[in-house]
Amino acid sequence: MKFALDNKESAQTDTDCLVIGVFKNTPLQGSAAAINQACDGALKDLVDSGDIDTNWKDTTLLHGLAGVAARRILVMGCGEPDKFDPVRFDTVCAIAGALLRDHAASNAHICLHEMETGGKDTYWRVRQAAVALDRANYKYTATKAARPHDHAPLASISFNADDKMQAALDEAKGMAKGYLQSRELGNLPPNICTPAYLADKAREFAASYANVSVKILKRKEMAKLKMSALLAVGQGSANGPRLIILTYTGKDDDSRPVVLVGKGITFDTGGISLKPGANMEQMKFDMGGAASVLGAFEACADLQLPINLVTVVAAAENMPDGKAYRPGDVLTSMSGQTIEVLNTDAEGRLVLCDALTYSQRFNPAALIDVATLTGACVVTLGHHASAIMSKHDDLAEELLEAGRGAIDRGWQLPLWDIYQSQLKSTFADMKNVGGMPAGSITAGCFLSRFAKDQRWAHIDCAGSTWKWASDEGSTGRPVGMLTQYLINQARQEPVD
Ligand code: BES
Ligand code: MN
Ligand code: ZN
Repeated sequence: MKFALDNKESAQTDTDCLVIGVFKNTPLQGSAAAINQACDGALKDLVDSGDIDTNWKDTTLLHGLAGVAARRILVMGCGEPDKFDPVRFDTVCAIAGALLRDHAASNAHICLHEMETGGKDTYWRVRQAAVALDRANYKYTATKAARPHDHAPLASISFNADDKMQAALDEAKGMAKGYLQSRELGNLPPNICTPAYLADKAREFAASYANVSVKILKRKEMAKLKMSALLAVGQGSANGPRLIILTYTGKDDDSRPVVLVGKGITFDTGGISLKPGANMEQMKFDMGGAASVLGAFEACADLQLPINLVTVVAAAENMPDGKAYRPGDVLTSMSGQTIEVLNTDAEGRLVLCDALTYSQRFNPAALIDVATLTGACVVTLGHHASAIMSKHDDLAEELLEAGRGAIDRGWQLPLWDIYQSQLKSTFADMKNVGGMPAGSITAGCFLSRFAKDQRWAHIDCAGSTWKWASDEGSTGRPVGMLTQYLINQARQEPVD
């Protein structure tokens, strides 16, 4: 979707749909007040009569209001002004976007950023509205024909703001592109989105940006590097594993990069520890971590942020087979530490541990892995937050802050040493499962053993990256949090 600025009088703006907000029990403001004047008070009359509902999340669509050039006016209820916080703002934008997607409008003129939002300036409101509207405008079409009566999604939106807001729209464009990429990869079926497909995507990125390069490792190269944990997970599948390394240079070469590592299990059957059949198709989202680090990578390249970034994707398919790894196997990871496999369904940590060891060669300023690692995380936080774990509270706080900034929120879980004892094994340095209690945390503890001496954090996006309802699918998250984190890093870097 295209974003533009247009600060002509809202009442005169020629558009398929003008989108305004109204607070409850509050005089009409900004564009809403101007529209009201242009239509001789008809808007206020509709509010006063209750035909326009001003409660938060309520919507009213008006057609052909006299004196107003727009063909439709979408009035978004914003509720009490003092309760209108950034999350409420984001929700209103997302609801407006979903409504526009499903109506005949092909363009819209947005005035929602005029609504005062606790603690956030106009720049943020324009940026956030653009991203939320773009995300809501998404429709999965890759493997199905459009139905003839489906309305086309919006092609463009303009914002009632002046040229100063161009930077906000540019930032939104990069973030939206990242979300879209992540979402599309997440939704693609597992017979199409294989480890090799993810590698091809990475090659495409490298071909589109001059300062991006890519390296793909297959079984042979992984074996040379002694990545036995990653290899074991992929050994039961005809779709061989890939380690995908993308490098973006936005700053001089010697500046330490941020390294993002993604779990890219393109389908997780559980392996020999087979998952139950019901809902198994959801395990195509098990590459959500990989999709989001690829999305954030693309956002960073699109924005040409002045930082260095490396993205490492550990891609594999976890299948039961005559060649598959089994419970009882002891694997020697690339780090030299041995792992007793007690459950082949705890495969994410096995592909990630070798990817984390590999990533240390980049001397990261921060090492962050993103993974749909545990069902326990969905139980704990549902689909609303990603779990953040780190022994570096400053890094955890930076990620939480980025999540609040992009309304792609995280919540911190403890990574205390006391939980490590659940990983003790009789036959190896550790086992790959920690039992029922604190399943997300013991998975984080496992990973921490492969990021010793690193400024490292783990993001479990098992709930946030997709939604259960079948028409929802991938959310693309946590691209917002990651991209905002990278933007914040770029802002902090001294300009030289
Ligand atoms: N990919 C799953 C985690 C998952 C479950 C993500 C549900 C999204 C929704 C992961 O590989 C897994 O199977 N984890 C096991 C670990 C257990 C065997 C210790 C789990 O959570 O059950
Ligand atoms: Mn699994
Ligand atoms: Zn998995």
